[in-house]
Amino acid sequence: MQAKQAVVRYPEADSTNSLALELGRQGAAHGTVVVADRQTGGRGRAGRCFVSPPGGLYMSVILRPDLAFAHLRLVTLAAGVACSMVLEKHGIAPLLKWPNDLYCGRKKLGGILTETAPWSAAPPGVPFVVVGIGLNVNSLPADFPPPLRDLVTSLSEITHRCHDLDMLRREIVRQLDSLVAGLERNPETFFSLWRQRDFLLGKNISWQDENGLVVHGAGAGLRPDGRYRLRTPDGLIHPILAGVLKVHPGNQVEPGRS
Ligand code: BTN
Repeated sequence: MQAKQAVVRYPEADSTNSLALELGRQGAAHGTVVVADRQTGGRGRAGRCFVSPPGGLYMSVILRPDLAFAHLRLVTLAAGVACSMVLEKHGIAPLLKWPNDLYCGRKKLGGILTETAPWSAAPPGVPFVVVGIGLNVNSLPADFPPPLRDLVTSLSEITHRCHDLDMLRREIVRQLDSLVAGLERNPETFFSLWRQRDFLLGKNISWQDENGLVVHGAGAGLRPDGRYRLRTPDGLIHPILAGVLKVHPGNQVEPGRS
């Protein structure tokens, strides 16, 4: 990626991911970043909305990675690691709730939504992915609607100071680019970085699949194909690819080995 990041900036956007998908279709270069000071229609995983008040970092990075199709899902995980590694330099140590959330304690600090466009998009034959990153940086829980206030936290709330959004953006994009470039060459290093930050490991969790079926168990770690393992009390392993994982209060469960 070029040393100077190409940045398209908006004071307000519906969703930076939607804008970046459009730019990607028009052929925008690898590493182009769309950033907005606030979003009116921020999108999250599973069709949820992502509340995006001023003070947060809302950006979407267009990547044209040289990756096997099966590895594309690892890009979301790489974005989580990139955010954590950068935030660790700024005084906090978020954990990663598979596949796309950053947590500090029991509170959500941010999320990642990776979207792809049809492989036929221009320029011909060059696929692209949009990595949308939303982090609560200088926003405070009071900036969120009441039902969310107890569930979110921010970098400012934890460190008691304001942070430079442009600097964080530059650092995260650089880190993401370097992790994605290393995915094919050295996947083990990447998996180890992710596993050191696993929020769900050993926690009491449940998984709801697309058809509404709920399975309870313990978080048992990331598989090399990017799926997450849920271990049921009778020792069965479910490799999870999609759907929603919830954390439940109560004693941590021994994750065991598989
Ligand atoms: C989630 O929590 O499920 C993922 C949230 C992803 C939010 C980011 S903010 C920038 C980009 N634009 C969007 O509409 N969504 C992503």
